[in-house]
Amino acid sequence: TPERGRIEFSGVTFGFPGAETPVVKDASFVVEPGKTTAIIGSTGAGKTVLLNLMLRLYDPQQGTITIDGAPVSQLTREQLADAIGLVPQRPYLFAGTIASNLRFGRSGATEEELWEALRVAQGEDFVKAKELGLDEPVSQGGTSVSGGQRQRLSIARLLVARPKVYLFDDSFSALDVATDARLRAALPEATQGATTIIVAQRVSTITEADQILVIEAGEIVGRGTHDELLASSDVYQEIVRS
Ligand code: CTP
Ligand code: MG
Repeated sequence: TPERGRIEFSGVTFGFPGAETPVVKDASFVVEPGKTTAIIGSTGAGKTVLLNLMLRLYDPQQGTITIDGAPVSQLTREQLADAIGLVPQRPYLFAGTIASNLRFGRSGATEEELWEALRVAQGEDFVKAKELGLDEPVSQGGTSVSGGQRQRLSIARLLVARPKVYLFDDSFSALDVATDARLRAALPEATQGATTIIVAQRVSTITEADQILVIEAGEIVGRGTHDELLASSDVYQEIVRS
């Protein structure tokens, strides 16, 4: 079977230079290819840092991170970009048009592919409502679109890019519950069964994940399915109740 983006963290510890305590502590876990892994935990727990380590925005002081067996530290920028894509917690848009922003994912994408990505990302309606549609101008930083619209365009951009591993950093929390559910229902087909990692605030976003990692103060304190964690993790129960 072709590799579809298996990620493994082995004993990964990372702290920001000058800080006394690491923000990721001895993290070991496997993200199975083609499955959905969710990461949940309170603000400041280290969720974004975990994703950024996969993208090599930082390198760990200890431990290794591999994708399909290859240490990410040995991949070229291009190999890494082909393998993993991120919808950042604070998405950004470039000066240009909606189409040019979506094609930042993959310059050769057809208009049809852009519309398909928008349909999945629940952004089709608002783009259609723009006078110029895909050719609507977007200002740098995306100030001409709302925060939620910017988030959907950023999701669509990643769908256009078609990486092996999709990272969504809190990408669905700005959506209402129904839109969140529609988007997630459409994702598996759109990503063609690629590996998906979802950082979430709302438990309802992740109950169906194949694996949930509970992170607290940089440590993985629970892992399992929703039902397993309900039975085994105090921290998870607390998150569910809050
Ligand atoms: N941190 C830091 N310097 C940065 C980024 C983060 O010192 N440039 C620290 C934060 O203060 C926090 C820890 O690293 O203590 C983890 O941050 P982060 O991964 O961003 O936390 P999240 O779990 O993503 O929090 P949120 O839910 O608020 O996004
Ligand atoms: Mg974060």
